[in-house]
Amino acid sequence: MYIYDEYDHNILRERIAQFRAQTGRFLDGDLKPEEFLPLRLQNGLYVQRLAPMLRINVPYGMINSTQLRRLAHIARHYDKGYCHVTTRQNIQFNWPDLTEVPDILAELAEVQMHGTQSSGNCIRNTTSDPFAGVAEDEQVDPRPYCEIIRQWSSFHPEFAFLPRKFKIAVTGSASDRAAVHVHDIGLEVLKNEAGETGFRVYVGGGLGRTPVIGSLIREFLPEEHLLSYLEAILRIYNQSGRRDNKYKARIKILVKAVTAEVFAAQVEQEWNHLKDGYTRLTREEIERARSFFTSPDYQTLDGKAAQADVDDQALQNVGFAKWLRRNVRGHRIPGYAAVTLSLKPTGVAPGDITDTQLERIADLADEFSFGEARTTHEQNIVLADVRKSDLFALWQKADTFGFATANIGTLTDIICCPGGDFCSLANAKSIPIAEAIQRQFDDLDYVYDLGDLNLNISGCMNACGHHHVGHIGILGVDKKGEEFYQVQLGGSSSNDTSLGDVLGPSFSAADMPVVIQKLIDVFISNRTDEELFIDTYRRIGAAPFKERVYAKAH
Ligand code: HEM
Ligand code: SF4
Repeated sequence: MYIYDEYDHNILRERIAQFRAQTGRFLDGDLKPEEFLPLRLQNGLYVQRLAPMLRINVPYGMINSTQLRRLAHIARHYDKGYCHVTTRQNIQFNWPDLTEVPDILAELAEVQMHGTQSSGNCIRNTTSDPFAGVAEDEQVDPRPYCEIIRQWSSFHPEFAFLPRKFKIAVTGSASDRAAVHVHDIGLEVLKNEAGETGFRVYVGGGLGRTPVIGSLIREFLPEEHLLSYLEAILRIYNQSGRRDNKYKARIKILVKAVTAEVFAAQVEQEWNHLKDGYTRLTREEIERARSFFTSPDYQTLDGKAAQADVDDQALQNVGFAKWLRRNVRGHRIPGYAAVTLSLKPTGVAPGDITDTQLERIADLADEFSFGEARTTHEQNIVLADVRKSDLFALWQKADTFGFATANIGTLTDIICCPGGDFCSLANAKSIPIAEAIQRQFDDLDYVYDLGDLNLNISGCMNACGHHHVGHIGILGVDKKGEEFYQVQLGGSSSNDTSLGDVLGPSFSAADMPVVIQKLIDVFISNRTDEELFIDTYRRIGAAPFKERVYAKAH
């Protein structure tokens, strides 16, 4: 994990003093709301329906137990006793008091956290694979590159006022777990045939009101050119992005307008001026970044014996066996496993986590995973480095604390935005819909039979809940002042990224669990063997689903 140096600490201290003064001037009436707006946004502070909302960066999802405990303290003392894990691996507080935000930021700075650039039209937190560094299918650990991007993009004067916000994701594994195709820039770090490290570069992906899958603009960018090439992309965007229309200002609109080929050519031309300049990464710089992501102090374990013990325990305990199947993944080191703690038990807003739970996770991280945890874009928490021999003990404790729901990757592991309960932009509530669907499908064995199935919910077309890329997506819409829900099918955010197709007219909140049940019924009666929902949908198309859902009652 990256550790702040004195320079980082100073910069943050100065930033907080500056923001404290700005907040004071706003509260005294010396700054108008519209003058305060860009200042607060640059520090992660939104004003939403009921209270301000403060977004805290979790760089590429990595968080340690000290930071978790500080978040718990903030939730308890400054908020209403909980916070929220977002779909970009960040943490949000929903109820801070504006006057206390500078104090919260000061508390966070002490544990190397902040909200800088977590909102506003700048380069946001770079997201990544929550299993980075431990995944069995990883080619290259993406985290050093995320850190390089973080350092370069933080306070970058040229890119502080872009036409619109800008999001970058990096993955280094065969399976894309970072949704790189729906980011402004998506990077896949890999090795070429000669064994050199570099990036496949996608640009112009995004969700929101105009969802677009990113276009591949470079097959292999040698690693030393990471920053110079990003700089070239951002420079073209900064100069040509639509500043006249907020809804057309994202890079995806520019890339679409000029075509990906032309955009790529413009970037190459710009890059030719930049590539041998000061942003070209030296070997020492790359090694320096890598040095923060060395392996923890793994023991040499007998992987086979450890697995045999776990299998034995699973035979004796069905609940443990289920949890192993859904919430535990392989690890590149023999005898270790990566565990996902579910923040999706029925009845809890997806991604919400209480102060006490944050402390419990910190304890579990200390006891079982070298003091570190990861946030996931599916709004769960990962303990990445657990000894297999500890899995049973971890499961028991996680169960007591409420994070052992064995539903990772299933229909009830719902991605959901805050929606109408919190967000002033919402057309409809999303959290109660998630809960109603979880209640409809509370039989885990039934849910397991369905296999991997992503259901994503957004309360409006801004798509914070990634509904376009859910196998089933739900979008809150407003129909003459009433809350309705549109259903989309066939989306995916994995390697085979696709955007869902709208099924047809929208439904009332009360209808939603039944509608989802009907979709599942169609899937079950049409699937072959172990086929997944997304594959059945792609094979049979929307017609059978439409027929069933819109059939006249008789
Ligand atoms: C509650 C206050 C929030 C407000 C006012 C808000 C506002 C917005 C807006 C206006 C957009 C669309 C911007 C665009 O596409 O240009 C957006 C997109 C997005 N938001 Fe939020 N949001 C809020 C909370 C959240 C939360 C809690 C999450 C995570 C759970 C989230 C995650 C995202 C993501 C991932 C996008 C992606 C769409 C994209 O950039 O392609 N937001 N948000
Ligand atoms: S999708 Fe809409 S309702 Fe949901 S958090 Fe984003 S802006 Fe708010």
